[in-house]
Amino acid sequence: MSSKVVAIVGSYRKGGAIDTAVEAILEGAREKGAQTHTIYLREQHVEFCTNCRQCTQSPGAERVKCAQQDDLESILKEIEAADAVVLGSPVNYYNATALFRRFLERLLGFFYWPWGNNLLVQRNKRQSRKAVLVASAGMPGFLIPLATGAPRALRLMAKSFGAKPVGSLWIGLVSQEPHPRLSARTLERARHMGWKLA
Ligand SMILES: Cc1cc2nc3c(=O)[nH]c(=O)nc-3n(C[C@H](O)[C@H](O)[C@H](O)COP(=O)(O)O)c2cc1C
Repeated sequence: MSSKVVAIVGSYRKGGAIDTAVEAILEGAREKGAQTHTIYLREQHVEFCTNCRQCTQSPGAERVKCAQQDDLESILKEIEAADAVVLGSPVNYYNATALFRRFLERLLGFFYWPWGNNLLVQRNKRQSRKAVLVASAGMPGFLIPLATGAPRALRLMAKSFGAKPVGSLWIGLVSQEPHPRLSARTLERARHMGWKLA
């Protein structure tokens, strides 16, 4: 049976650096027989976490559903049915976008954290999926993991999904022109990362 790869995109811009890089990764995965689907967070109805913490109170290995009614549950069901994920966000003000982080903050149901406990504990520590992490920025790419919080946000999301990062793509210098074109080398690297996910 073919593997299923789901991408979560936290870019505000259609056809920008993150959309292009994520699509190249998925193209690579499809070349190796995977089925792929992209969830553009900008098109989803995802509310802010209200810190009610209802989803963190009862123990157990299963994720607890959020009490809010929006698109979160259907997105998470899709992730849970996937073998691998691609997580992508531009770097805005030295971190993942607000769009990406708003979704990240809604993943508390993967953790047990009753009132009175100082630390949250992941409900299921099994890493049964693979992940590729992607960030883009105006600064040179090598600075993204050194100077920004974006990789940490991407890793936290992968961890919540029980996904082990098998590759990362830090794409720099994307603010040179209004519509960034990724280099042939970057696109090739992206495709090859997709191969690892299939
Ligand atoms: C509000 C805002 C804040 C930004 N902050 C940073 C930053 O802190 N560091 C940086 O290198 N680039 C920064 N950028 C540039 C974005 O990272 C770049 O435009 C983005 O990676 C392009 O991705 P996209 O084509 O998918 O939109 C910022 C852009 C915007 C709009």
